Amino acid sequence: MLIVTGASGKLGRKIVENLLRHVSAREIGVSVRDPNKVLDMAASGVRVRQGDFSDAASLRHAWAGAKRLLLISSNAAATGGNPLAQHATAISVAREIGVERIFYTSQVSSSATSYFPPGRDHAATEAMLAESGIAWTAMRHGFYAASALMMNKRGFHTGKLEGPEDGKVAWTTHDDLAAADAALLVGDAAIDGPTAPLTGSECLDLADLARVAGELLGEPISRTVVSEEDVKANAQAAGIPDGAVAVMLGYYRAAHAGEFAATDPALAKILGCAPENMRTFLKRNL
Ligand SMILES: NC(=O)c1ccc[n+]([C@@H]2O[C@H](COP(=O)([O-])OP(=O)(O)OC[C@H]3O[C@@H](n4cnc5c(N)ncnc54)[C@H](OP(=O)(O)O)[C@@H]3O)[C@@H](O)[C@H]2O)c1
Repeated sequence: MLIVTGASGKLGRKIVENLLRHVSAREIGVSVRDPNKVLDMAASGVRVRQGDFSDAASLRHAWAGAKRLLLISSNAAATGGNPLAQHATAISVAREIGVERIFYTSQVSSSATSYFPPGRDHAATEAMLAESGIAWTAMRHGFYAASALMMNKRGFHTGKLEGPEDGKVAWTTHDDLAAADAALLVGDAAIDGPTAPLTGSECLDLADLARVAGELLGEPISRTVVSEEDVKANAQAAGIPDGAVAVMLGYYRAAHAGEFAATDPALAKILGCAPENMRTFLKRNL
């Protein structure tokens, strides 16, 4: 059985939708904190069980019979939680119940020295997987295109994109990543360890996003460089938790250092077509 964690989230939900195009619902199980969020999946015949990365007993039950497990990276850090402790629990349960291969949603910034805090967590998780003795594949996802929208929502609205110095990013959509992850999950040609960067085929920085969004909206959008201190003060005044502020500032530093700038044909190869570009994505979503 294929088990998908995080199936109530944006990526996990799309992965399950894609899996249903490859295999029958009987072969898919999902593990979610709140089964009420995925009633539609249960109705389609997918096995739904409650599972929380912080509760090993719940995972043992939710993952029973798992041959392949998709471990969606925890987003606990943004709210002060400990994603690495959660991943360690998940990997330990997977070993205990005899999972044959873990697929983990990593990111292109995965490195012990990344400026981006989640990049350091991804590297630490990949190290745990390497030590686990279980076969593993880490899908090194490009930076979510949806994050560009989320981080700049106010700026697109006011016509002013503000932030510290940044750099080029190979923005990548949830739709393309979910289709690729599902194909890897059901595929015969398993990749051992980290994949090549699974990215969109072009890189855009904040100034590029301002230009493209301005063209699409028919209104000029400016890009202004402001200091980290100003960003931090504004975020704290808006009540954004410290963990989320650290991730946001880490993103600017990592982007400036080129950590998200790699593009690679691997995603297009898996999809059999070009990934969606940012202009099309913004047109659909702005
Ligand atoms: N590649 C990138 O650029 C990028 C950008 C942002 C995030 N990410 C990572 O990608 C992951 C998936 O993205 P997404 O857009 O699908 O995020 P999302 O919509 O926030 O989904 C996160 C999923 O993780 C589940 N989850 C959270 N804590 C859990 C726990 N303790 N035990 C079990 N499940 C738990 C959530 O369950 P609930 O529905 O119960 O909350 C939800 O299903 C994120 O969690 C984050 O680690 C990557």
